[in-house]
Amino acid sequence: MMEYTKQIKLYSGKAKTVYTTNDSKLLILHFRDDTSAFDGGKTEQFSKKGEINNKFNAFIMEKLDQVGIPTHFEKLIGPQESLVKNLEMLPIECVVRNIATGSLCRRLGVQDGEDLEPPIFEFFLKNDTLHDPMINEYHIETFGWATKNQVEQMKIYTFRVNDFLKKLFLDAGLLLVDYKLEFGDYQGQLILGDEFTPDGCRLWDIETRKKLDKDRFRHGLGGLIEAYEEVARRIGTLL
Ligand code: C5P
Repeated sequence: MMEYTKQIKLYSGKAKTVYTTNDSKLLILHFRDDTSAFDGGKTEQFSKKGEINNKFNAFIMEKLDQVGIPTHFEKLIGPQESLVKNLEMLPIECVVRNIATGSLCRRLGVQDGEDLEPPIFEFFLKNDTLHDPMINEYHIETFGWATKNQVEQMKIYTFRVNDFLKKLFLDAGLLLVDYKLEFGDYQGQLILGDEFTPDGCRLWDIETRKKLDKDRFRHGLGGLIEAYEEVARRIGTLL
């Protein structure tokens, strides 16, 4: 069996570092213990976070693959490391919201906690300097950030993720409030990349509406790792 080893550090994001491997079609994602918010304006390290998120992401990506959403995830190769396909990432974030909170409430003045029926889909441009501005399909087409087909496929996959994960979390007593996905091209195919962890989604306890995601860090509520562990335990990724 092939051994995959880290070669060159390709990119270091806010919570993950990406390495090339001895196979040009594959990369290694290293989930660090770092947490960051407000475009890197607030950062902190939490021991075990990298490990929890690596496992969590693997669990979710494997499930998504089983329901027809192709993902970049190949396999876990270390406590904080996963082997993934080397995608050409699109500079776009796809967000679906089932309950109003966060930037939606700030932008539109709607009530925090309001159910959104039908759920709302939003595109954002990945650009730190511009603070990830919201964009629409016209911006994407005109500036060539993705093709029309990719836009349609991203919407289909992102809503399919919603149908599947809303139920998965509900069965664990959790509300999937909103989440962000990123896609990339792999040999002409649109594939889900990046990660799905409590760093990039919002999860509330169904009874108490307690926040069990990165909002604990964003709002200085404390208990971030305990919350991530609670979520992982409830969906069965932490034994
Ligand atoms: O901040 P906002 O309310 O727009 O976030 C919507 C969802 O997208 C949240 O689950 C948040 O964690 C996620 N998100 C993210 N990375 C960003 C922006 C938003 O993971 N850069």
